[in-house]
Amino acid sequence: MASLESRKHISPDSGFSVTLHPHFNARIASHVPSSPIREAFDPPKDRAHFADPEKKALFAVARRVDLTEGVGTLLENVQLSQLNAQQLDELALLVTERGVVFFRDQDLTTEKQVELFEHYEEGILDKHPAQKHKDIYGNTDDHREIANFTPWPIAEWHADTSFEINPPSYSLLRMEEHPEIGGDTAWISQYGTYDALSDAYKRFLEGLHAVHTSRLQCMLCLSGSQNSDLIHDKLIIITIDDTIADLWGIAPNRPPIDTHHPAVRTHPVTGLKALNVNPGFVTGFAELKKLESDKVLDFLYTHIHSADDHYVRWKWNVGSVAFWDNRCVAHRVIPGSYETPRRGVRTTVYGEKPFLDPASEGRLQRKLRKAREAKTNGTAVKQ
Ligand SMILES: [Fe+2]
Repeated sequence: MASLESRKHISPDSGFSVTLHPHFNARIASHVPSSPIREAFDPPKDRAHFADPEKKALFAVARRVDLTEGVGTLLENVQLSQLNAQQLDELALLVTERGVVFFRDQDLTTEKQVELFEHYEEGILDKHPAQKHKDIYGNTDDHREIANFTPWPIAEWHADTSFEINPPSYSLLRMEEHPEIGGDTAWISQYGTYDALSDAYKRFLEGLHAVHTSRLQCMLCLSGSQNSDLIHDKLIIITIDDTIADLWGIAPNRPPIDTHHPAVRTHPVTGLKALNVNPGFVTGFAELKKLESDKVLDFLYTHIHSADDHYVRWKWNVGSVAFWDNRCVAHRVIPGSYETPRRGVRTTVYGEKPFLDPASEGRLQRKLRKAREAKTNGTAVKQ
């Protein structure tokens, strides 16, 4: 059972735990994060740009098994620890295309995993704003039960720390300890969820910025005081109360942040449009009135949760690895209870500041265009 401060504070009128009262936790009121909000920066050029499009070096050793039509590939017969720089670049390209790539029975150590990920960003590894140890987390928490007590929709679909000004690009999670049953992770393709919208809705979303916030996940609320931040020329006032410090027993090392990112983004490597909204961190749309914003979020929640044709679910074992691209997939742990701890080591690198190139195209749109071009060329050859 999760240890939540809120359980000690019961609403006298309802008998339920208090979660949203700003004064219930003295640690929240007194906490001063150790680091400031991260400034925007230009990360090194994505290693996937350096890859051979056919990935010959990688597929010379790895056997490819695509798990669904549009998202998720299992690579067999390969140890990540043995890949050379060229193969790692090709792997990154495959991840940008397939969203997530899986491995089983890996011999990676934490040290080697960090070294491997430093290849992708010359040592600029992300550290989660509420991370206790550098890269490791694990617990036996039942997310169904926790979700009843935290304002943050824990275990919802999300892209890792998408509230950052430079949100993560690649994440790699390696499982060191895992129960026999439960704790699966699922991914959905945001290329796919974008494609599944009508053209009119796509155009509507392309004119919006989604508000990605860490407010509900971090914690900071100061009675009588406010934090403010200038994001994309808009002054954001932060006055909230959050509870993750109670849940994880740690305090965040950076202040909360709201960032306005394009609701549809262009992937810098594939050039494809992807939906950039996730229920875990997005709380609204900057250009809309609250009621309008709530209704759009409500629709997208249903849209993302019903995207079965753009979904893949992964059952973990000790030594399994998932390597994904937060710019084109969202993921979530499937909630449930399990007896033994689930403990993994995650490494993450920062990506570019999200952008929308109006000239870019959706994945389905590109496929149809290429089919048309092939048909035209084929007809021309026959004539
Ligand atoms: Fe995550």
